[in-house]
Amino acid sequence: MPLPLENPDVAEKNADQNASEVSTLAELKRAMEAFEGCSLKHTAMNLVFGDGNPDASVMFIGEAPGADEDRQGLPFVGVSGQLLDRMIAAIGMDRSSAYITNILPWRPPGNRKPTTNEVTVCLPFIRRHIELVAPQVLVLVGGTAASALLGRTEGITRLRGKWLIYRGKEENIDSEIPCMPIYHPAYLLRQSALKREAWRDILAIKERLDSLNDK
Ligand code: URA
Repeated sequence: MPLPLENPDVAEKNADQNASEVSTLAELKRAMEAFEGCSLKHTAMNLVFGDGNPDASVMFIGEAPGADEDRQGLPFVGVSGQLLDRMIAAIGMDRSSAYITNILPWRPPGNRKPTTNEVTVCLPFIRRHIELVAPQVLVLVGGTAASALLGRTEGITRLRGKWLIYRGKEENIDSEIPCMPIYHPAYLLRQSALKREAWRDILAIKERLDSLNDK
C-alpha cells in the first residue's frame, strides 16, 4: 500500500538533510532508496540511480526513467537512450568514460511529465549527486533538467546550445560548473529537423572537453 504523500516542504527538507549526510555515491543511493517523500517510488519497479564512470569529466542529466529504464534500473537504455549513446559517441566517449543520470530516480507512471513538486522534492539528491561526481562539464538533457538545475523559465529551444553556469549549493566559485542544455533525444526522435542544431551543440561540448584535456 502506498504511504500517504508527505507534505512537499517537509519531504524536500528531509531530502536535503539526507543528501547532506552522505559522502559517497553508494551512500547517496542508499539514502535515496530509503527516502519516503516521493510517491513515485511506490509505482516504480526500480530506483534508477546512474550509469557510467563516476570519475567522468562530463555528466549527462536527463528528466526521468521511462519503462525500459524502470525495468532495468539504468538510465537511458530505451530508444532515446540509443540516440543519447550516439551523441556521446560523437563526443568521443561512451558509458565507460561519461556519467549519466536523471533529475528523478523513479519513473512517473505512463511516462507523464514530472510535477513541479516531484522535481523540487528530489532536487537535493541530484544536487548532491553532481557534487559527488564533480564533473568539469554538465550536459542538461532536455527542458526539465535545464529548468530544474538552472532555475530558468525559458524553454529548451531558447536555452540549448548556450554555455551557462550551474551553481552548486555552496556559494563559492568551486561549485560553479559550465553546463550546456541540449535537446532531449526523445524530442529529437519526433522532430528530426532539429538534429542539425543538436549535432552543433554536441560538437561544442566536444570542443570544450578537448580544450580541457589540452590544459
Ligand atoms: N528519458 C530520460 O530523460 N531519462 C531516461 O533515463 C530515459 C528517457
